[in-house]
Amino acid sequence: MDNVKEIQDKLIAQVALSDTPREILKSSELKQLYGAITSLPVEERGNYGKSINQLKRALELAITSKELDLENAAVETIDVTAPWDKNTGRLNLLPAEQGTRHPLTTEIENIIDIFTRMGFEAFESRQIDNDENMFGALNFPENHPARDGYDTFRTEEGFIPPAHTSTMQNRILKAGKAKLEAGGQIAAVSYGRVFRNEDLDATHEHTFYQYEGVFVSKDATLGQMIGALRSFFEIYYGQKLKTKTQPAYFPFVEPGLEFAIERPVALGGKPGDWLEMLGCGMIHPNVLKSAGIDPVIYRGFAWGGGVERLVMLKHGIEDIRHFESGKLQFLRKFL
Ligand code: DAH
Repeated sequence: MDNVKEIQDKLIAQVALSDTPREILKSSELKQLYGAITSLPVEERGNYGKSINQLKRALELAITSKELDLENAAVETIDVTAPWDKNTGRLNLLPAEQGTRHPLTTEIENIIDIFTRMGFEAFESRQIDNDENMFGALNFPENHPARDGYDTFRTEEGFIPPAHTSTMQNRILKAGKAKLEAGGQIAAVSYGRVFRNEDLDATHEHTFYQYEGVFVSKDATLGQMIGALRSFFEIYYGQKLKTKTQPAYFPFVEPGLEFAIERPVALGGKPGDWLEMLGCGMIHPNVLKSAGIDPVIYRGFAWGGGVERLVMLKHGIEDIRHFESGKLQFLRKFL
């Protein structure tokens, strides 16, 4: 009996060190223990058999637990905090399965690149803002019906996920005031995600992106603005374009305009096919005043437009809802 206990301890110690623990069930020591039963007097065989069965159960338990340990050690651990390629590299994914940049990310970079080369400084817009930046500082009087046009969402605390990137104007003007006073100018472009509580269809999405320019100097003109916008669209689409403006109403500009381009033939358009691309105008004196800038000395222009509309025309995308859909079939077209 003592012998059985001794062998049990020895075999279990072997299991702990083995890479193939189940093999230990075939060990010669175990066979000898089984074989010894017939050499015992009949009255001792019962107890001896029990102690061997107990040994076998203990051994099997140790083997199963060791096998689990080995299995776990074989699974590659993924460090969820590591950069994406560290983990995907270990999983040997094909490039197509590793994911790509979202087309909007790429195109926003293209847009910002063009404006920064023109001398505009870029700022990402906020995704939560307040009534003052959304409306007040932009010359929307309290309870003015123009506020309804923006279908804003609101949190219970009264914050607003911005419905346009114009929410950045007051911040940009305030931050740039010192530059004006030092004899310089403000030239900024903001870009980011905006939200509207709209009925969804092929051209309306609740979440989309805008880009917004703000320029202020002592002698800014509409002509400068139209020139800058025309250059922007021609660089973005890589060709000469016909453009036009028509009057429009936005409380934060006076005069306010819509800027349209003729849809290029190369992109499926025909002459006379006008596409309104953005809203723009000379910054309203009240908007300059709400940032502490004297509208008698300084003047400026601003514009704001949808990123998706630009990108849809460039890539022939027929439905704005594709962008937020997360559909791989759509995203893979931009590999
Ligand atoms: N914020 C306007 C919108 O989302 C677009 C716009 C119009 C922006 C005129 C401007 C502007 O900066 O001057 O409908």
